Amino acid sequence: MAPRITVIGTGYLGATHAAAMAELGFEVLGLDVVPEKIEMLGRGKVPMYEPGLEELLRRHVAGIEGSTGRLRFTTSWEEVGEFGDVHFVCVNTPQKHGEYACDMTYVDAAFSSLAAVLRRPALVVGKSTVPVGSAARLAGLLRELSPAGDEVELAWNPEFLREGFAVRDTLHPDRIVVGVSGEHGEKLLREVYATPVGEGTPFVVTDYPTAELVKTAANSFLATKISFINAMAEVCEAADGDVVKLAEAIGHDERIGRKFLRAGIGFGGGCLPKDIRAFMARAGELGVDQALTFLREVDSINMRRRGHMVELARECLGGSFLGQRVAVLGATFKPDSDDVRDSPALNVAGQIHLQGGQVTVYDPKGMANARGLFPTLGYAPTALEACRGAQVVLHLTEWAEFRELDPAALGEVVAARRILDGRNALDAAAWRDAGWAFRAMGRPQA
Ligand code: UDX
Repeated sequence: MAPRITVIGTGYLGATHAAAMAELGFEVLGLDVVPEKIEMLGRGKVPMYEPGLEELLRRHVAGIEGSTGRLRFTTSWEEVGEFGDVHFVCVNTPQKHGEYACDMTYVDAAFSSLAAVLRRPALVVGKSTVPVGSAARLAGLLRELSPAGDEVELAWNPEFLREGFAVRDTLHPDRIVVGVSGEHGEKLLREVYATPVGEGTPFVVTDYPTAELVKTAANSFLATKISFINAMAEVCEAADGDVVKLAEAIGHDERIGRKFLRAGIGFGGGCLPKDIRAFMARAGELGVDQALTFLREVDSINMRRRGHMVELARECLGGSFLGQRVAVLGATFKPDSDDVRDSPALNVAGQIHLQGGQVTVYDPKGMANARGLFPTLGYAPTALEACRGAQVVLHLTEWAEFRELDPAALGEVVAARRILDGRNALDAAAWRDAGWAFRAMGRPQA
């Protein structure tokens, strides 16, 4: 019989994983400790914006007309223990307050609660991003706390999904990495992932520490790539070069590649910033902090971008924000998501507001979350309204909607036709043709 699956934690990662497992044909039970989330998911509603996720969910959630009924949600640990053969732990590991290290509270709590209800043989699969060494510790905890003791096995199976592409990345991952301590775990996971592996997804089997490190190494590499091109943007600005052309040209070298070389206001979100910091903290504990000192530079180049955007805007306004109206297009940390965690766009908006600017923000999907985090900023229901009366427009998240804006129409409502492209995504010529002073990061001023 096919293994029955539970998914613990129903955020971006868990909710998508649960729906994807049901799509692959398994019976799935999702658990979260927040009853409101469970109630919503049980009705086939997704508590966040993720393209395609609600449709996938509704295809499988029990009780929805026409669904397969393979997916259910609960807040009961007992039910999870009884139901599952394979338990995926998908809770988050945010950055600790005032420290670089990641906060393992949710992971530890999830493992403890789960262990207590494991009364029969089970495979527990950690998917959360954790400091290397956690899996070995958690395997011990499971053995110690589970009534089933040695019949509970642990595997570590990092997740590489990108927000905005979560469904596609989960159903068709570009690799599956599993850290296991025995053959049983590998066999069971091969069964769970038989469909993507059958489609050609590489299945990499390794030990716990390597599996944990793969995730932090991958995110560190991506962060480094972005900060590299942003460092080049700084140099280009000083030397009158064009970082967009430079990225295109070096990207033709296959060893370098074109992806993740978009210069702008830098990376944010719930993963890259906190993951590189937690990695540095862990390296320090392991006595190899020197190996990762470059990540400090990656982080500081990245944070400098936000400040630089604020300075460009100030310069545009003749040296002061006081009493000036500033339109901010974009609040989320990237397009096609409603996530504003550590969003460079909101950070820039917040800094300008604190310096006396009258900021009005518009974002296609992130308004509610942005308001929650920065209630003192102004918000407008459309891009056009956000720009009404603005002395300068800042393009800070590259939503398709902003690329489709008509520069001439927008020019009618602003107080001055000035735009700064913080994502190098707008068509400079089109804006300039419509009479705008257009400036982008790391590109020559026309
Ligand atoms: C990232 C990893 O890509 C993913 O594999 C991992 O599982 C979780 O962390 P995500 O946080 O969804 O995913 O976003 P990602 O697409 O990596 O973008 C991160 C940030 O980098 C965004 O703020 C984005 O705007 C920025 N970015 C990305 C750039 O500034 N330039 C680029 O060229 C690419």
